[in-house]
Amino acid sequence: SDKCWAECMDVAVEIARKAGQMVQEAVKQEKRVSSKSTPTDLVTEADQQVEELIISTLRERYPTHRFIGEESSAAGEKCVLTDSPTWIIDPIDGTCNFVHSFPMVAVSIGFAVMKELEFGVIYHCFDGTLYTARKGHGAFCNGVRLQVSKEKDVSRALILTEIGAKRDPATLNIFLENMKKLLSAPAHGVRIIGSSTLALCHIASGAAEAYYQYGLHCWDIAAAAVIIREAGGCVIDTSGGPLDLMSRRVVAAGSREMADYVVRQLQPISYERDDHQ
Ligand code: IPD
Repeated sequence: SDKCWAECMDVAVEIARKAGQMVQEAVKQEKRVSSKSTPTDLVTEADQQVEELIISTLRERYPTHRFIGEESSAAGEKCVLTDSPTWIIDPIDGTCNFVHSFPMVAVSIGFAVMKELEFGVIYHCFDGTLYTARKGHGAFCNGVRLQVSKEKDVSRALILTEIGAKRDPATLNIFLENMKKLLSAPAHGVRIIGSSTLALCHIASGAAEAYYQYGLHCWDIAAAAVIIREAGGCVIDTSGGPLDLMSRRVVAAGSREMADYVVRQLQPISYERDDHQ
């Protein structure tokens, strides 16, 4: 089966590149934008078309596999992880960036078997950077091995986060309080780039020390979690316990100490689980 998943990963790389090129073309065209769960949870026709391309290609090749996709879920398909081989897909991560042609947009393809993440592929649509990792085989950026930052001291850390779709005053207060805690630690800085998957890739490459977020989805974290772990980092729940893919929350860091530090600073923001029935 190890050989089989390696072959699946080659297919994922091929499709991610193809999808990424489709996104690159779509950026130049007029976008048809609408919103999903909240007015700031955006979707475009391109998101739907790219997901359709990815899933139909994979389904033809692997008819017994299961698929979790951002836009299929938005269209009402069940989002549950079973023991079956499952592809977890974000066709355009950073849709808001895509809408504005802000150059931080990625295609993310993760793959799980027996509820365990096996590999992840993330393609940066603007500069063509390809991040890949398979369990037990290391993480790579354009074929070059990735290594996380081993920094343990928050006062020498660059921290990344993302905002999430909820913008009611109570949620924003907690969001700002969390950021204030880290800024006054004082971390070197906090950045928000508008793409969870690319931000997580920066943890894998050691360009930043920690990442935390409430409100992301399983397709934002599946591929990136493998890439960070294979680069030597840790990906956990905001409670400090093991990552729960469906829980809409995550802390990732180069070192366990840094992750635990961030965990202790955070006040939770609750979001409905991805696998709510
Ligand atoms: C979103 C982006 C955004 C993050 C959200 C994600 P999408 O993904 O990564 O930066 O704040 O939590 O859901 O909707 O653009 O694929």
